[in-house]
Amino acid sequence: MTEERANELVNKLYENNDLTNEEFDEMLRSTKSDELLYKKADTVRRSLYGKDVYIRGLIEISNYCKNNCFYCGIRRGNKNCERYRLTPEQIFECCKEGYSLGFRTFVLQGGEDAWFTDEILCSLISKIRESFPDCAITLSLGEKEKESYKAFYDSGANRYLLRHETADPEHYRKLHPIELSSENRKRCLFDLKEIGYQVGSGFMVGSPYQTTENLISDLRFLQELQPDMIGIGPYINHSETPFADFQNGSFTVTLRLISILRLMFPYALIPATTALGTIHPRGREMGLCAGANVVMPNLSPKDYRKLYDIYENKICTGEEAAQCIQCLKGRVSSVGYNIVTDIGNVKKH
Ligand code: SAM
Ligand code: FES
Repeated sequence: MTEERANELVNKLYENNDLTNEEFDEMLRSTKSDELLYKKADTVRRSLYGKDVYIRGLIEISNYCKNNCFYCGIRRGNKNCERYRLTPEQIFECCKEGYSLGFRTFVLQGGEDAWFTDEILCSLISKIRESFPDCAITLSLGEKEKESYKAFYDSGANRYLLRHETADPEHYRKLHPIELSSENRKRCLFDLKEIGYQVGSGFMVGSPYQTTENLISDLRFLQELQPDMIGIGPYINHSETPFADFQNGSFTVTLRLISILRLMFPYALIPATTALGTIHPRGREMGLCAGANVVMPNLSPKDYRKLYDIYENKICTGEEAAQCIQCLKGRVSSVGYNIVTDIGNVKKH
């Protein structure tokens, strides 16, 4: 692609928030438009969110999971994974500590662990809601029935993160065992929206068997869903999975996609993910410069962090929460942005 063509495509995306499939294909396959893409994405991000970076306190509540996703290190089939689950009291303590450190969003994430019944979760969510009325409670606990999502919402949860992983049903089939389907995952996302949650979706970049066409389907699915949050990160290998022999996803394609997403969805909350920071030492900083506006420091108790081992060499497993936030504040300000104490709602309209 020539320089001129690259500029033409970026400007078109900037003005229309969209391109044709053929144009996306051209852009995704070339590095030529990258510098201008980052610049335009940053302009759009600053026009809506200024220099603000929102923080979300991530609490990894359990690494037990009934699922067996082929890419994931905490899959049921990994017999070498040492399992843990936090008690509701421990989770509540993490929120308390997070609040004092300036967090106004707590993200409860975990494998699909049947120990956490709807009853246990609703009682925990209610307690967090009553104690921290000025905070958002985000859940990321996988696929559930609509009634369960509704019960959590009624107890005080208000955001849900569920990546669609890949929008193409055939590609989905290659990443998951037969009992999981793209159709059900998408059903969950639309149920969550209907209930009233602020919804986050997203996908892995460079997951095994992924094609550029698959990535374009992902962009189209997000246009249909119109999520508030979009989380993407590179696929990272884990040796105790059936995908042990596959390569990590590309860092530059992930950055390129962050910028494309910012231009397609100017209002979106887009994290510079831990996976991005894992495959490149300045990955999160570069993600922010490419259009991301959220970081998700870990609030889990230090002793359990290493066990939430979804991919290898995951960063930030050795620090206390307070150290983590200090480190991130430095990283964020080193590229000209500021971490803010704010609930960090989407600025949609
Ligand atoms: N169980 C919940 C769910 O299914 O949404 C939340 C936990 S799951 C580990 C969170 C996300 O981790 C997944 O949506 C997936 O995109 C990401 N993930 C899992 N394995 C990964 C890997 N090997 N590399 C990069 N990301 C991975
Ligand atoms: Fe359940 Fe990864 S297979 S969290």
